[in-house]
Amino acid sequence: MGTKGKTILTGDRPTGPLHLGHYIGSLKSRVELQQNNKVYVLIADMQALTDNADNPKKVRDNIIEVTLDYLSVGIDPGKVSIVIQSRMPEISELTMYYMNLVSVARVKRNPTVKEEMKQKGFGADVPAGFFMYPVSQAADITAFGANLVPVGEDQLPMIELTREIVDKFNKTYKKVLIKPEAMISETSRLPGIDGKAKMSKSLGNAIYLKDKPKDVEKKVMKMYTDPEHIHKDDPGKVEGNTVFTYLDVFDPDKKEVEELKTHYRKGGLGDVELKKRLIGVLNNFLDPIREKRAQYEGNKDKVIEILEKGAKEGREATSGTLKKVKSAMMLDY
Ligand code: TRP
Repeated sequence: MGTKGKTILTGDRPTGPLHLGHYIGSLKSRVELQQNNKVYVLIADMQALTDNADNPKKVRDNIIEVTLDYLSVGIDPGKVSIVIQSRMPEISELTMYYMNLVSVARVKRNPTVKEEMKQKGFGADVPAGFFMYPVSQAADITAFGANLVPVGEDQLPMIELTREIVDKFNKTYKKVLIKPEAMISETSRLPGIDGKAKMSKSLGNAIYLKDKPKDVEKKVMKMYTDPEHIHKDDPGKVEGNTVFTYLDVFDPDKKEVEELKTHYRKGGLGDVELKKRLIGVLNNFLDPIREKRAQYEGNKDKVIEILEKGAKEGREATSGTLKKVKSAMMLDY
């Protein structure tokens, strides 16, 4: 990845442990981007609370889980600032100001929010905070002065709205906000073990970064293959076969994977044998991640220290932005 010298913000809602889909979709690129850019990773606890208001413990516990996930995959706390969102009061304040620049009709048109509302069964009873979270996400992005935001497709409407708010703010008051660009991950999305398009906690089809070897084994054994491939000697389909999709992504020996595909197509290669290979591949991939996680799990003080450092670095950025914003809005008393 040739990106250099950018200010980058990415983030996750701490509502559950991170899985292989997160790794392929975003964590991997963060580890690359941290080399030559200033990267802030936001643990969006306030956003998590917009639809988990009655479950603060879940959010609190997952802040630590997600931090351990970050550190275990090689996010370097010496380079990256890991920032807990609620520790940046500037974000809440910016959100209030930005809400004046966005209409309710505009927020209603956000396709991701619409989809989430459907999924969560929210109608007119949607919490106002949830409905408005795209505005608070615009505050996240601008508070850190990010010019690049690596996200999945579903987050594009948030970046679009942020860009509109930036234009409106800069035009109405003074040119102080930086207009961000989205960076869509090149790697395609990893399907769940059931073959569904997306790996997700709520669909129950995820392999977690912290899964034990036994869990991985069980999950791979249940993995969706080719339903027509009943007997070992039947010719099998490779396209849409989740085991092959994962081997394509995680197996370092591409040549052998190609040979396996040929064999599978012809017939004579059983699902169990193929799955055993994938179990080995995934556990080899996860072993160093597990090891690193265990080190940090045994040193919680270090984890807290990293989050303290992230909060301090984060506030240096967000307080600078807020100061400029308030001055532009004649609120610099
Ligand atoms: N909405 C993002 C998600 O659900 C998380 C998020 C919060 C975020 N604030 C952000 C992502 C700022 C990028 C930038 O995954």
